[in-house]
Amino acid sequence: VMRIVHTIIELQGLLNRNERDGRTVGFVPTMGFLHEGHLSLVEHARLQNDLVVMSIFVNPAQFGPEEDFEAYPRDTERDTHLAANAGVDILFIPNTAEMYPQDGGIRILPGPQAAMLCGASRPGHFDGVLKVVLKLFNIVDPDRSYFGMKDAQQLAIIETFVRDFNLRTVIVRIPIIREEDGLAKSSRNVNLTPTERAQAPVIQQALKRGAQLFKEGHSIKEIKRFVADYISQNSTGVIDYVSLLAYPSLTDEIYDQAEVILACAVKFEKVRLIDNIIM
Ligand code: PAJ
Repeated sequence: VMRIVHTIIELQGLLNRNERDGRTVGFVPTMGFLHEGHLSLVEHARLQNDLVVMSIFVNPAQFGPEEDFEAYPRDTERDTHLAANAGVDILFIPNTAEMYPQDGGIRILPGPQAAMLCGASRPGHFDGVLKVVLKLFNIVDPDRSYFGMKDAQQLAIIETFVRDFNLRTVIVRIPIIREEDGLAKSSRNVNLTPTERAQAPVIQQALKRGAQLFKEGHSIKEIKRFVADYISQNSTGVIDYVSLLAYPSLTDEIYDQAEVILACAVKFEKVRLIDNIIM
């Protein structure tokens, strides 16, 4: 049976060296309102570890003042059932007062990877992500931690963080899970209007066609223009960015790179959606 814990002391009681007894711990950090994307991380964690810990915490530090912290969907009861059915062993739902008791003013500054893509329109966002991720890694001390390629930039920055600071955990990349019509699963999708929801699959369609153009040798400028126009012409979404960069370095040096990412962010009335394709 899944244990649900709300305090750090309870969690550490379940995860101390004695209790752990050499068993490996896989960790799935989330902000809740779980969907198959999150559950896919759990599935991988289960296959590779003896114990699976999931956290649910809508982290205020990663939301800007004008962003959707209040409107971010929450449903702890539903999440609890989904997590238990997926095979989570320990569900950690900390409260904000314990996670952020006081601000000592120390900041983690992500490097140049955070200046691109979402970092450009969400100043401070990745500082807040790294802050909570470091806290959670220190609290849980996981052997492996699971992150989705849906948030490819977040994943790339966290990989760098782990390497630069010798964090003990291994980061595991998990592919994007999509709806049947191709829309990347996201907790935020419920905040789309029905019309926007019907249009939203054009984002992946545009990226797929853009990837095709890349393979055919079109210029970066042409590809980005095509993707932006395709989305603008087929939805009410407003383009935040369309970028084509080396992955995971997120630099412009895409030639002779093993992997290239074509990524975009699109603003609808109440929701900003992101998606990407790796080539
Ligand atoms: P959240 O958006 O809840 O996502 C939690 C994890 O699930 C992330 O690693 C994300 O990439 C992954 N995920 C979300 N949608 C996915 C999909 N459709 N397919 C595959 N994986 C998907 O990302 C966060 O929370 C937060 O920033 C967090 C890391 C928890 C720090 O607060």
